[in-house]
Amino acid sequence: MISYGFSGGKGGVGKTTLCAHLGLLWGDDSQEVLLMDADLGLANLDAVLGLVPRAGLGDVTDRKVSLPEACTPGPAGISVLSGSSGHLPLIDITSGEHENLKDEFFKFAGRFDRVLIDLPAGLSGHCQAWLLACDVKILVVTPDPTSLLDAYATAKMIFAKQPEARVGVVVNRAETMSQGREVSSRFQKILGQFLQKPVAAFGVVRESQAVRVALRNRKPVVLSQPTSTFCQELGLVKVALSAENHVGGQVFRLADFRMPEAA
Ligand SMILES: Nc1ncnc2c1ncn2[C@@H]1O[C@H](COP(=O)(O)OP(=O)(O)O)[C@@H](O)[C@H]1O
Ligand SMILES: [Mg+2]
Repeated sequence: MISYGFSGGKGGVGKTTLCAHLGLLWGDDSQEVLLMDADLGLANLDAVLGLVPRAGLGDVTDRKVSLPEACTPGPAGISVLSGSSGHLPLIDITSGEHENLKDEFFKFAGRFDRVLIDLPAGLSGHCQAWLLACDVKILVVTPDPTSLLDAYATAKMIFAKQPEARVGVVVNRAETMSQGREVSSRFQKILGQFLQKPVAAFGVVRESQAVRVALRNRKPVVLSQPTSTFCQELGLVKVALSAENHVGGQVFRLADFRMPEAA
C-alpha cells in the first residue's frame, strides 16, 4: 500500500478534482484503490465522483457502521470513504477520537494498493495529522501566487515535522504547459533555497473545459471524456507518482526528487 495526501493549503486549487480522477485512473489499471475524504466539515469528494454515498465517516464515528461498511463502491472498481458534510460530531471530534479514527483507517487501508486522501484547505491539526500520515505528500498549486505561498507554508510545516518527507508538486489550472512547468520549477527553487529541501515535480494539468462540464453533469472526466487533454495530462502525473513504490515497507522513489540549483 502507498498513501498519497492531496494538500496545498489553499481552497479551490483542485485537490479534490485531481484526487478523484487519479483514483479513477488507477482503478482503470485494475489497482485496488481507496479514496478518502478527510474534509471533516465540508466533504465533496463523492459529488465530484457523481456518487451518492451509502454512509460516511460520521457514521463510523457514531459507531453505526464499520469502516469497510462505510465505503461506497465507485466507478472503475474504486472504494470511496465519504466525509459527512455538516455532521457536527465529526466537526467537533476530539483529538483522541480523531487519532483512533486515523489509526483504524490506516489499518483498513493496508489491504489496498493505492490510498488517496483528499485534504481540506488550511492547516488545522486534523489536516496536518492526515497529511503527515501519508507516504507521499502532494501539494496542488495553481499559477496564482497566493496558492504558491500557501503551498510553501504547507511544505514548511511538513519538513519541520518530518525532515525526510517525500513531497511533490502538481501544478493545476495552468494556462499552458510551459507556464505550468515554470511555476513548478519556481516552487522547487524556492523550497531548495529557503528550506534546503527537495520537492518532486509530479506534473502539470491545464485548465480544462471538460472538468467544468463533468462537474455540472456529475460524471467524472475519466468516464465522460477519457481522451481529453485533462485525462492525458493527469495520466502523466499518474506515471510520475507510480514511480514511487513500497517495497518491503520502504518507499523507493524513482521520481525526480532532485534538489534544484539555487535561484
Ligand atoms: N484543471 C481544471 N480545469 C478546470 N477547472 C478545474 C480544474 N481543476 C479544478 N477545477 C475546478 O475548480 C474548482 C475547485 O476544484 P476542487 O477540486 O474542488 O478544489 P479544492 O479541492 O482544492 O478546493 C472546481 O469547480 C473544479 O471543477
Ligand atoms: Mg476539496
